[in-house]
Amino acid sequence: MTKYSAKSSKLFYRKFGSGPAIVLLHGFPESGILWQQVWPDLAERFTVLVPDLPGSGQSSRGTEKITMESMADAVDGMLEAESLNGAVFAGHSMGGYVSLAFAAKYGRKVKGLSMVHSTAFADDEEKKNNRRKVIELIRKGGREAFIRQMIPALFSPSTKETRPGIIEKQVESGLQLEADSQVAYYEAMIERPERTDMLTGGRFPVQWIIGKDDTVVPFTKGLQQCTLTSINFVSVYNMCGHMSMLENNKELVKNLADFASYCLRR
Ligand code: MLT
Repeated sequence: MTKYSAKSSKLFYRKFGSGPAIVLLHGFPESGILWQQVWPDLAERFTVLVPDLPGSGQSSRGTEKITMESMADAVDGMLEAESLNGAVFAGHSMGGYVSLAFAAKYGRKVKGLSMVHSTAFADDEEKKNNRRKVIELIRKGGREAFIRQMIPALFSPSTKETRPGIIEKQVESGLQLEADSQVAYYEAMIERPERTDMLTGGRFPVQWIIGKDDTVVPFTKGLQQCTLTSINFVSVYNMCGHMSMLENNKELVKNLADFASYCLRR
């Protein structure tokens, strides 16, 4: 099922199942399709909303500058279009940054937040500089080379060895993202503030999905943040990198369903 909502920008989203709502937000350089091995099982118990964030997949970039906050506004437009006053959020990496921006602006609408290989810390200077170099490379026409080098690094050594087909497919999907969107997301990620304040004070339960072999949000950085929240669900997957929805999808579905059920029962 496919839908559009309009708020700050036109957002394309998929809707499956029925019951309390769970929103799945993808990361960079992906689209909502990333969750296709996760949504069928969740849809047996929940209404699952899976947008393409502005500038990805079937959602246009719009005219407004892309920031984590503008993407959060677009997600709120989807909730409004569905007449929902709240949902459990699962944000993968950049989708987690958007979820935190959403929590900062629309806090009471967040019933729980699953940070899937994501972080509430801002980029440090080294990371910001690396992103600036990538922006330069993309502007000089290096978009494809960057994606071909970046995507394999998201997966664990075990996935690389045993399931290279998954990675190839993901590279093909990453190549769909336009250069202007890539640059816009990287600029937005550089500018995003630290959001650890959203994790303290028991605002909502938080789940941490951590890949032991993740090089984007390293294991130790993930664990470090778990202690900030008062209600924590923590899952560490061995032989998993940054992409559990492809590398460990069965465990992820189970962990997300358990977490969402807990949040919606409170
Ligand atoms: C993502 O998966 O969304 C990105 O790797 C996030 C990032 O670069 O910080």
